[in-house]
Amino acid sequence: MLDKYSREINYLRVSITDRCNLHCVYCRPKEGISLQGHEDILRYEEILRVVSLAVRMGLIKVRVTGGEPLVRRRCVEFLAALKKIDGLKDISLTTNGILLEEFAGQMFDAGVRRINVSLDSLDKDKYFRITNGGNLDAVLRGIIHAQEVGFSPIKINTVLIKGFNDNEALEFARLAAEMPFQVRFIELMPMGKTNLRDGEEYMPATELIEKISQTFALEPLKGKKNKSDGPARIYKIKNGQGEIGFINPVSDHFCSTCNRLRLTSDGKLRACLLNEAEVDLKAALRENCSDAELEKLIWDAVLLKPRKHDVVCTDNTMKKCTRIMSEIGG
Ligand code: 5AD
Repeated sequence: MLDKYSREINYLRVSITDRCNLHCVYCRPKEGISLQGHEDILRYEEILRVVSLAVRMGLIKVRVTGGEPLVRRRCVEFLAALKKIDGLKDISLTTNGILLEEFAGQMFDAGVRRINVSLDSLDKDKYFRITNGGNLDAVLRGIIHAQEVGFSPIKINTVLIKGFNDNEALEFARLAAEMPFQVRFIELMPMGKTNLRDGEEYMPATELIEKISQTFALEPLKGKKNKSDGPARIYKIKNGQGEIGFINPVSDHFCSTCNRLRLTSDGKLRACLLNEAEVDLKAALRENCSDAELEKLIWDAVLLKPRKHDVVCTDNTMKKCTRIMSEIGG
């Protein structure tokens, strides 16, 4: 599927629920959000129909996200059903890791080999505060278990927030030096109404790279990057086990290589994470649309993809997305 700017769109991120067992400060508003009801979210069969059709149109890669995907019932069965779709080459999952110890084995048996774990602090108390009640030890046990079960690569997603956890950058770099994980620092994006004060928490990647380079020798990965690295700029750590990546959607957007669409938990196909354009698939699915009609809607979303996101305004202030991350899935 080629979009208007000749980008090949072959990757779909699927949020299967907006529910989460954590409540991270930058992901949810303080007053809580109205959670989508049972009927609001797509049924697994509906998602599988969309994915199967999209695979016939050129989709090769799916990432399952949330909210927290592992809190939705029968998630592993869903992953196994995805795995059976002929032509779908790559299935991965993004999780906060709280339930990883319980589910890693079953997910591996279902055929999933790649996971990303969101982890924003290596300090027990701070983790508890950032996530509003999360248990760091459970996540660390989950990650180690996933490694033992055979998941590879295991990527750790870390969002650094100025004045909150940016002082842990070196700890995370050390984790990547000592363990065979890829630690990816993701710049904070201005999403929805969250629990943060506005504007002050954003930490540009340049500062971060400088800080880490003072302690660890970073070597850019040479040659063609591994395809699964996506938008991350990856560095090897000299004499280290793992890798460090920087994902800089704000300071150094990678829109020209964007290959993705997003299916929200309430059945909207979203053309760009940081742009409000969406196509409603749920309404069509529930009106028993034909495959040809569904295909047309998927094309509509592909053609809605903007050349680039416009979150950073010309005066360098940031515009906010109206949807919060837990509805879109990152
Ligand atoms: N900015 C940057 N990254 C975010 N994530 C969630 N919200 C934001 C935000 N506002 C990250 C999560 C998760 C990934 C899917 O997106 O930490 O790892």
